[in-house]
Amino acid sequence: MTALPALSFAAFDETERLIGSLQCWPVALDFQTPLVLVGPVAVVPDLQRGGVGRIMMTRMIEAAESTRADPLVLIGDPEYYGRFFGFEAHWTKDWSVPGPVERRRLLARVPEGLTLPATGHLGPRLHNPGL
Ligand SMILES: CC(C)(COP(=O)(O)OP(=O)(O)OC[C@H]1O[C@@H](n2cnc3c(N)ncnc32)[C@H](O)[C@@H]1OP(=O)(O)O)[C@@H](O)C(=O)NCCC(=O)NCCS
Repeated sequence: MTALPALSFAAFDETERLIGSLQCWPVALDFQTPLVLVGPVAVVPDLQRGGVGRIMMTRMIEAAESTRADPLVLIGDPEYYGRFFGFEAHWTKDWSVPGPVERRRLLARVPEGLTLPATGHLGPRLHNPGL
């Protein structure tokens, strides 16, 4: 599986040091409902809580919206991904996933007017859309 280049970002400081990265991956619910798995999202420890994560997430969401990408899913703190970016756990509460997960941290962001299946298994996608 390869990351989706149009939805994956790296952040550099003025000295060209890599200070953050965000990758997105093609996944699906029951092989057929395409989703974009967001993560890892990481900012170097000395610059955390300085806005880098928000910039990368905002760019990714803008790119996802402008290309009408599939709904986004991630495992992360709802206090961050819900508060700033509209991710919610209610979409995923009855999904099964390949490993242990804290249910409150399995989040999805669904474009307005769309919905997601209430149940299904989160796993690989049969076809990479080539984004
Ligand atoms: C989580 C992470 C990506 C956020 O990026 P960041 O650049 O540090 O954070 P931002 O500057 O975008 O956001 C800062 C705001 O979010 C809040 N915030 C940041 N991380 C948070 C978290 N895990 N839970 C709740 N709030 C959080 C801060 O309190 C701050 O709020 P404020 O503006 O009211 O002070 C980054 O801290 C990180 O790499 N953490 C370690 C790895 C990780 O946990 N990755 C996520 C799982 S894939």
